[in-house]
Amino acid sequence: MRILTVGGGGREHAAVEALFRSGAEIYSVMRNVNPGIIGRAKKYKIVDEKRIDDICEFAIEHDINYAFIGPEAPLEVGLVDALENIGVKCAAPTKAAARIETSKAFMRELVSKHNIDGNLKYASFNNASDAEKYIRAQASEIVVKPIGLTGGKGVKVQGEHLHNHEETMAYVREVLSVSSMGGVIIEEKAVGEEFTQMVFVDGKHIAPMPLVQDHKRAYEGDVGPNTGGMGSYSDANHLLPFVPEEARKKSLAILQQIVNAMSAEGCPYVGPMYGQFMLTKNGPKIIEINARFGDPEAMNVLPILETGFFSIIKDMVSGKLKDDIKFKPLATVCKYIVPIGYGTSPQSGHEISVNEKGVSECGAEMFYANVDMVDGKLLTGTSRAIGLVGIGATIEEAEQRCESALKFISGSGICVRHDIGKRSLIQKRVDHMKSL
Ligand code: AMP
Ligand code: GLY
Repeated sequence: MRILTVGGGGREHAAVEALFRSGAEIYSVMRNVNPGIIGRAKKYKIVDEKRIDDICEFAIEHDINYAFIGPEAPLEVGLVDALENIGVKCAAPTKAAARIETSKAFMRELVSKHNIDGNLKYASFNNASDAEKYIRAQASEIVVKPIGLTGGKGVKVQGEHLHNHEETMAYVREVLSVSSMGGVIIEEKAVGEEFTQMVFVDGKHIAPMPLVQDHKRAYEGDVGPNTGGMGSYSDANHLLPFVPEEARKKSLAILQQIVNAMSAEGCPYVGPMYGQFMLTKNGPKIIEINARFGDPEAMNVLPILETGFFSIIKDMVSGKLKDDIKFKPLATVCKYIVPIGYGTSPQSGHEISVNEKGVSECGAEMFYANVDMVDGKLLTGTSRAIGLVGIGATIEEAEQRCESALKFISGSGICVRHDIGKRSLIQKRVDHMKSL
């Protein structure tokens, strides 16, 4: 059976490895030359991931049966609808179902209409004066977000990125001035610690993956601009040191309610679903729902997936997802190697040298992301370059393995957040949770 994979990042490389392990024959399309994916694919094509016609042509040419789609951009333009039309079964949401991510207003309205737990107070606007009246009337701090997709970088939080009313309004106007952002949404600011709960979905049922915590801020100590995620960790018991079982159960119940609501609205959801939650003193609150695996979070969970990923994909598309999907009881720590300046003005085109054997001897896995091969050289792009995942019995062991493996990757134009997965940073999260 042949599967098409779409995307050339670290998440997609991790998916391709999991598919390869489970015996799938892989055909890939991506924008950049990802050496990890190419090494596993029978055939590949370098193409923009939103070029629906080119991708469908590739699928027809190679008689593809199934598709896995990593990034959100092709979902937003309807790649799944087009592939399904030519008989390719997709473990990913249609354009209508992907609105759960591509429109933050759609997500909040759905959650509110169906009385789903964990919603935050919100309102969306198309003009600055209405937004200003609303903002002035709020008693506590707010968050300003573009309604549409921004690669995880368009959110600004009062008290963190926005320090007074003027800065808040300047950002509201900036968002409104860019029509592709689709308007602005103002949300109540949730206070607590964030975690990611991803699930597989077959239109009706969900099957959970281990919890993961991502690190959005560009610099050590959780400061600097928001990024797509600098690294992440997961624990051997599949919870997190600051998330008890009961909170996890609540977040799973919320995701199940969302899946039910989407089915009731006539846009059933199929594929991996990503729930970003803030654990507050009043339980988990929804920060965002994404229509795909998280990146880097996919690199934490897929290497420890015991059940065959290809069979999960087949079960998702046939509506027969089993609830006994198994992950190894191991901890993982992922650190993303990024180009210098990532988060503000990334510098691309720097050479990276990699000793793959050295990395694997450390008990780590390596996933290529936004890199390119040019004249036999591995070069950085403008986004995250390589995800390195240490795997071990404890977070501490996984973190040490990741750090040892980092020594086998070098280059003058790259940097990494060493603090991710370290005991001191995790303790800070546990203490913060206790203080609420
Ligand atoms: P998003 O792209 O919606 O995940 O937002 C990026 C980051 O902004 C999140 O990971 C949070 O750290 C922060 N954020 C987003 N929405 C809220 C909210 N309502 N309250 C507090 N922080 C938020
Ligand atoms: N790690 C955040 C995301 O994939 O959206």
